[in-house]
Amino acid sequence: MERNDSATPDPIALFLKWYEEAQTGGSGLFSKKRVISWGVQVIRRLLSAVFPWSNLLWPDIATLATVTPENRPAARSVLFKGIAQGGFSFYTNYESKKGKELAANPSAVLVFYWHFPPRQVRIDGMVLKLSREEAEAYWKARNRENQAASAAVTQSSIIRGREEMVEKVNQIKSRYKGKTIPCPDSWGGYCLVPEKIEFWEGRFDWIHQREHYVLNNGTWEKVSLAP
Ligand SMILES: Cc1cc2nc3c(=O)[nH]c(=O)nc-3n(C[C@H](O)[C@H](O)[C@H](O)COP(=O)(O)O)c2cc1C
Repeated sequence: MERNDSATPDPIALFLKWYEEAQTGGSGLFSKKRVISWGVQVIRRLLSAVFPWSNLLWPDIATLATVTPENRPAARSVLFKGIAQGGFSFYTNYESKKGKELAANPSAVLVFYWHFPPRQVRIDGMVLKLSREEAEAYWKARNRENQAASAAVTQSSIIRGREEMVEKVNQIKSRYKGKTIPCPDSWGGYCLVPEKIEFWEGRFDWIHQREHYVLNNGTWEKVSLAP
């Protein structure tokens, strides 16, 4: 964490700065961070070219934790899609396991981890559903394969196996041949409106930096925590 980061009163702005640095490196053209980041980007591009599905080094992967009706934690990866309506957005199927959990209990946590520099951000709050217009706008930006797979089945439902999935995806593609695949009503976005945001940055001397922000009556308050 840079010294002037500590003075940043807005943790969402600090998150966006870290998120950008996770993709582009820190300030200073030839700073250590930037050179490492260029290396990471080259590796990332090569991996993406050789393995089109490789997203190992993508900075937009976050772990989303929810609470089950049995009061147990549940977690899975989602793709962060930017700040929307003051919260951290992601898209999913509202009838999936996570969708049902969020309908019953909107409390959730998103955890980001980036390797270079080693940083973690934990965002704790309540989710809100994004609008239908936002869902449709994002749906249009996805490719046809992706749309067909999302429209074919209800996420998290039990299926016979891959062959059922392939069959249903092909049915959707032929049903909408030459036409746009419509965005299912059950598909859309959430934004996690933060109440607490915590930043952790690893240091070579093992004295890691940890800053915890809490929203108190509309104002962000910050404390440092032992790492
Ligand atoms: C890297 C990665 C990114 C993912 N992104 C999403 C996403 O943005 N939305 C989503 O619904 N599922 C995403 N998934 C799949 C989820 O991790 C999960 O398997 C799925 O949403 C079903 O979760 P649930 O049964 O708890 O609802 C992603 C998985 C991985 C590994």
